Amino acid sequence: MTIDSDSDLQGLLAAGRVVANCLVHMQEQAQPGMTTAELDAIGAAFLKRHGAESAPIKAYAFPGATCISVNEEVAHGVPGRRVFRAGDLVNIDVSAYLNGYVGDTGGSFVVGADPTELQARLCAAARRARDEAILEVRAGREIRLIGRTVEQVARESGFAVIRNLGSHGVGRSLHEDPQFIPGYEDRSDRRRFHEGMVLTVEPFLTTGKTVAREASDGWTLMNHRGTFSAQYEHTLIVTHGEPIITTLPS
Ligand code: CO
Ligand code: CO
Repeated sequence: MTIDSDSDLQGLLAAGRVVANCLVHMQEQAQPGMTTAELDAIGAAFLKRHGAESAPIKAYAFPGATCISVNEEVAHGVPGRRVFRAGDLVNIDVSAYLNGYVGDTGGSFVVGADPTELQARLCAAARRARDEAILEVRAGREIRLIGRTVEQVARESGFAVIRNLGSHGVGRSLHEDPQFIPGYEDRSDRRRFHEGMVLTVEPFLTTGKTVAREASDGWTLMNHRGTFSAQYEHTLIVTHGEPIITTLPS
């Protein structure tokens, strides 16, 4: 969406705050021995308490309030019977509707142990890719600068970019224009940011292959065994200066 009023801004900030706080809450509660379904229930209860509605359920009838992806799972992991083990690299993606506005955020972390050197480097690189890409977002500039920046950080860090997952427009619904914004530079992509545009920035970096494949559950996107992937996501609003990040926890 493109915002055109202060009530749009306030609505997006409120939705963003709920999902950001939900993500922090779930990360704090995650521990070895817990199932992904149990952690998802904690997230579902948090959203409900704050009057928000899970976007994956509302938009796609996804079988979980949040997406929880572990180790070789890259994204859209279905909460279920998988039990967290100390040292698992976990990604939680939380998106929700609040009063007609959507916030979408995500983050990766290691459960119940210090990250290994590889996990720490991967997470730092994915976070840096997101934060440097956000600095490129400005009204009038080209959207493909996101991909260029993500690719560059990945290359410098020695990791690969997942090519079939990307950033996207958001705001009134979970996925809207601008559709799929890749984590690599597509030189034929002429789209530009404009003032008030609402979008996510969410690079996916991996130690594995560049294409995530769909698992037999029809939802989870996987890489091969023994690999790790990491994603960090913010929702933001384009301005002529630095973008407004809606998904900051409070
Ligand atoms: Co998300
Ligand atoms: Co997203």
